Amino acid sequence: MSSAVASRNVVRRLINATQHSACPCHGCRAGGAHNPIQALQQMRKYATPVEALPVEKEYAFEVAAANLRFGEGVTREVGMDFKNMGARKVAVFTDPNVAKLPPQRWYAISSLEAQEDLPFEVYDRVVAEPTEESWRDAIAWARKHDCSHYLAVGGGSVMDTAKAANLFAVYKDADLFDFINAPVGKGLPIKEKLRPLIAVPTTAGTGSETTGTAILDITSMAFKTGIANRAMKPMLGIVDTLNTRTCSRELHISAGLDVLFHSLESYTAIPYNERTPRPANPILRPAYQGSNPVADIFSMWALRTTVQHLPRISKDPGNFESLSQMMLAASFAGIGFGNAGVHLCHGISYPISGLNKKGPKFKYSGYNVDHPIIPHGVTVALPAPAVFQFTAPSSPDRHREALAIFQGVGTFDSSITAIPDRDIGAHLFEAIARFLDNLGVPRGLKAVGYSRADIPALVDGTIPQRRVLDLAPGIGDIVGEDGREHLTRIVENSFEY
Ligand SMILES: [Fe+2]
Repeated sequence: MSSAVASRNVVRRLINATQHSACPCHGCRAGGAHNPIQALQQMRKYATPVEALPVEKEYAFEVAAANLRFGEGVTREVGMDFKNMGARKVAVFTDPNVAKLPPQRWYAISSLEAQEDLPFEVYDRVVAEPTEESWRDAIAWARKHDCSHYLAVGGGSVMDTAKAANLFAVYKDADLFDFINAPVGKGLPIKEKLRPLIAVPTTAGTGSETTGTAILDITSMAFKTGIANRAMKPMLGIVDTLNTRTCSRELHISAGLDVLFHSLESYTAIPYNERTPRPANPILRPAYQGSNPVADIFSMWALRTTVQHLPRISKDPGNFESLSQMMLAASFAGIGFGNAGVHLCHGISYPISGLNKKGPKFKYSGYNVDHPIIPHGVTVALPAPAVFQFTAPSSPDRHREALAIFQGVGTFDSSITAIPDRDIGAHLFEAIARFLDNLGVPRGLKAVGYSRADIPALVDGTIPQRRVLDLAPGIGDIVGEDGREHLTRIVENSFEY
């Protein structure tokens, strides 16, 4: 389209808006013009080539509330829930470890069996840190069994796999990459209604019971990505405080680190009204919208709770009060980041996890698996001190609040207010590194087997994570030289500390 034609189209749209809409700011480029005179003034302003117009910023955010049931022993109600919904047949997803544990064996399955005439089928082959191959297996199973309802009992891997199986059992002919986030996949919108899914988390970590996000490892590309769409959100999350009591100390910690950085990343993500471009249709508004007043409340509560209770669990994994608080914090952080998004720690974590299988082959202790694994929460934590040092100048006040929480003092304590804005990042680096050290987290990428020669590959694996990097404050154009330079510096500063 030539610029002259483009300009004429802009003018025509503005004239239309003044003639046919009482308040043109709801749908056109008039930018708040409420009467024809203003619109004509705007017309002059916008009668320039379309290419020269600024990309419009987002002006709205949406709140997708989660349906949660929280309490001790509530997993036992799940059979009644499916009966109440008139389920024809339930697909139960779990993994081989959880299949042997009380949440699945004693609570969920007994609850389904207690209902008369409630058929169910169990898929127990979910793998920790799912891959394309493991998703394809689960999808083929779901397509074959044609269930009317879904139940996921397990950690994030189980809940995410159940979401994907549900999606692709409804879209029977779709390819995996049709819905995977662009630019890795096509990122198509989900227009069909999916089957109702009830999620029962058995770790206090991912918050997947509250979100429409499902993550997988694209092994051929050596990084993780996923599908993020509200259509995949469970219709109910059953948050049972009994369900994490059999977890190892290492699992409590790695899951808790995920909660910690879901909270802190969503609180420091770019504000929703700074995100571009404004979607042309509400169906295109991403689930990850940027920080917003509703997500902030959930994220900050989860951050405070995690900083308080995770160290107590590290010292005593039998501290049931702290385990319960972390269950709630995981779900609250899920609501926070499910509406705001995460950014750099998660973006960088995906290649840390993916490349480990080819490179360092680090196997984290406390995980009962036969393949190399750095748990998701640990991969997120490794770059965290350097990430928040980098993001601090974008919103010093928010980072100052976070620093006060880590220091265990009020935001207006003189030890916090005395720090000039330019030094907040350095203080936060130290506070987060100390917090992680006290939990026994490896001190940087070197400690899990990476060498400095791996830095370019880690940066290359981060750049395609547009879904989260678009929310990173201060990173600039991620596909340009600036973005690459910033990422390289963050990864270098995460190497050893
Ligand atoms: Fe996470």
